[in-house]
Amino acid sequence: MRIDGTAYRTIWPDGEGVVAIIDQTRLPHDFAVVRLTSLEEAAHAIRAMLVRGAPLIGAAAAYGVALALRTDASDHGMEQACATLLATRPTAVNLRWALGRMRGRLAPLPESQRVGAAEAEAAAIADEDVEINRSIGLHGAALIRAAAARKAPGEPVNVLTHCNAGWLATVDWGTALAPVYAAFEQGIPLHVWVDETRPRNQGASLTAWELKQHGVPHTVIADNVGGHLMQHGKVDLCIVGTDRTTATGDVCNKIGTYLKALAAHDNGVPFYVGLPSPTIDWTIADGVREIPIEERDGREVSELTGRTADGRIETVRVTPDGSPVANYAFDVTPARLVTGLITERGVCAASREGLLGLFPERG
Ligand code: MRU
Repeated sequence: MRIDGTAYRTIWPDGEGVVAIIDQTRLPHDFAVVRLTSLEEAAHAIRAMLVRGAPLIGAAAAYGVALALRTDASDHGMEQACATLLATRPTAVNLRWALGRMRGRLAPLPESQRVGAAEAEAAAIADEDVEINRSIGLHGAALIRAAAARKAPGEPVNVLTHCNAGWLATVDWGTALAPVYAAFEQGIPLHVWVDETRPRNQGASLTAWELKQHGVPHTVIADNVGGHLMQHGKVDLCIVGTDRTTATGDVCNKIGTYLKALAAHDNGVPFYVGLPSPTIDWTIADGVREIPIEERDGREVSELTGRTADGRIETVRVTPDGSPVANYAFDVTPARLVTGLITERGVCAASREGLLGLFPERG
């Protein structure tokens, strides 16, 4: 994507032993590039959410392995690096997927060849993510085009999205937002309702920033607004991302996604999920019981951070001193509430049959 005319990905090699990322904790206030040079820095970047979003977490972990092997390319060093990276965040399955792929590629090699091969494999994972998302964009844009055909000429298609599943959550393009960008570039009139996505505000801070940079019409709404909009015919379709989708089509995504799916179901609004294949967990069938849900620091709930009118970044408390808080980061939307999964191979039903129809090699 372009920022002030310059093309960016969210992660890229930046010279010998250096991986550059965009520090997403500073957006939308500051655009800052951070350079990672060690396993510890890569693990910190994922854990502290300088990089976040399932596909980007996977790519960052892959580059983290490459950085780690520069210090210790032994089997032990590689296993330690993978264990450290795997422990950073529990829910997005792309992390486990990327580490498994790195291990599979590197383990058979002599130590002397591992650093070069790790850098090449991490770059391949990043490049593949971009191509996967480009395809998701084209398949999803066809759904937006179909929605446009049902509206009066020139009237925008209203898409509701939750969290940030745009290019910042991936290496480029995004998953849920890839169809929005593709449709926008095809000249389809559209408008995006952006859920703020408390507690970390990925919608208000990141999705709104992305869409604004790209010139896509959008409106930020509080998390509880979606149901009201759907009741009044103001949402044509919902598109969200996912951090892990089961082999049966249960969708785990940012906390609050389930409530949007319930509202969409009640109002007959199609509810789609942008799903790159590395986000499918083929080993599990029951998302509600089997997907580990990350619980994060309660201060993300009890405090708000933003920029003051005079330019300072400030954090304020919004709960009474001493009130306990709980901070569940993800929830699971059962497959029965999902209209379709938009994958790089096309759109399918949220079911084992639907997924196997597109990925028969997993049967
Ligand atoms: O906690 P985050 O910001 O990493 O959560 C991100 C999401 O929930 C996204 O919607 C999901 O990863 C899909 S991203 C393409």
